[in-house]
Amino acid sequence: MVTTDRIATKQEKAEDDGNGPVVAVEDLHKSFGSQKVLNGIGLTVSRSETLAVLGRSGTGKSVLLKLIIGLQKPDSGSIRIHGRDIAGLALDQIGEIRKKIGFLFQRGALYDSLTVGQNVAFPLQHHTKEMSRSERAGRVRELLAEVGMEGDTEKMPSDISGGMQKRVGLARALALEPDILLLDEPTAGLDPISAGEIDDLVLRLEEEHHMASIVVTHDLHSAKAIADRLILLHEGNVVIEGTFEELQKSDDEFVKAFVRQSWEDICRERRV
Ligand SMILES: Nc1ncnc2c1ncn2[C@@H]1O[C@H](COP(=O)(O)OP(=O)(O)OP(=O)(O)O)[C@@H](O)[C@H]1O
Ligand SMILES: [Mg+2]
Repeated sequence: MVTTDRIATKQEKAEDDGNGPVVAVEDLHKSFGSQKVLNGIGLTVSRSETLAVLGRSGTGKSVLLKLIIGLQKPDSGSIRIHGRDIAGLALDQIGEIRKKIGFLFQRGALYDSLTVGQNVAFPLQHHTKEMSRSERAGRVRELLAEVGMEGDTEKMPSDISGGMQKRVGLARALALEPDILLLDEPTAGLDPISAGEIDDLVLRLEEEHHMASIVVTHDLHSAKAIADRLILLHEGNVVIEGTFEELQKSDDEFVKAFVRQSWEDICRERRV
């Protein structure tokens, strides 16, 4: 339900009714001191759709995700989740909305001192008080099975590979049955085979759960595999939006250089 102090616009009502984008970002600005990071970014993502966000290191990709999840506040602009603008809400008011967003952090995804099972149980413990211990254990098993980690419940994060850690992070992100999934570099630091397996897993999860997904990645190969649409950020703005093929065909010098460089890097890394 749209519950802002003012009267909802037609567009917001459509989004609230499930007829528009699930996430709609408009004219988003964010600076840190004198450093302008985001300078008017806009994007939309609908149900069952995956948007890849590309850009060089330091272009504000992680900041963008943190703004969408409400971990940071924008200087101006709007971020509508199901038609409700969260940009104007206080951080503690965003809690309810955040429950519907699954988030995989770029680094430090898991709690080192908790087992794999405890990591996945964490959001359930905090947000589903009515769930019994055995129900919770069952749900953790189900989630770990979904990401192919059912035999590893008792292991510690330090005892599993990077790819397995990403899987557990994904299971935890799915715990509260989110309708929005935000992934920050899900394949970074993985060998080519593990990266490909994570791509396949992300694709399958998106197909099964029909989430609106935003995947931040520097990996053009991965973006091509999992995204319906891509946007490329540069100097705080979206330089191009389109399919992988549209990016490849672009005449824009910056886009051409980015695609060429990224593709060469990835082909070298993945030896494809
Ligand atoms: N809390 C913060 N305080 C000050 N500066 C910040 C903060 N968070 C991010 N920045 C700055 O904003 C810029 C964008 O950071 P961000 O982490 O979003 O980049 P990125 O595109 O995700 O890069 P990478 O590909 O390396 O992960 C960087 O220059 C970073 O130093
Ligand atoms: Mg980042």
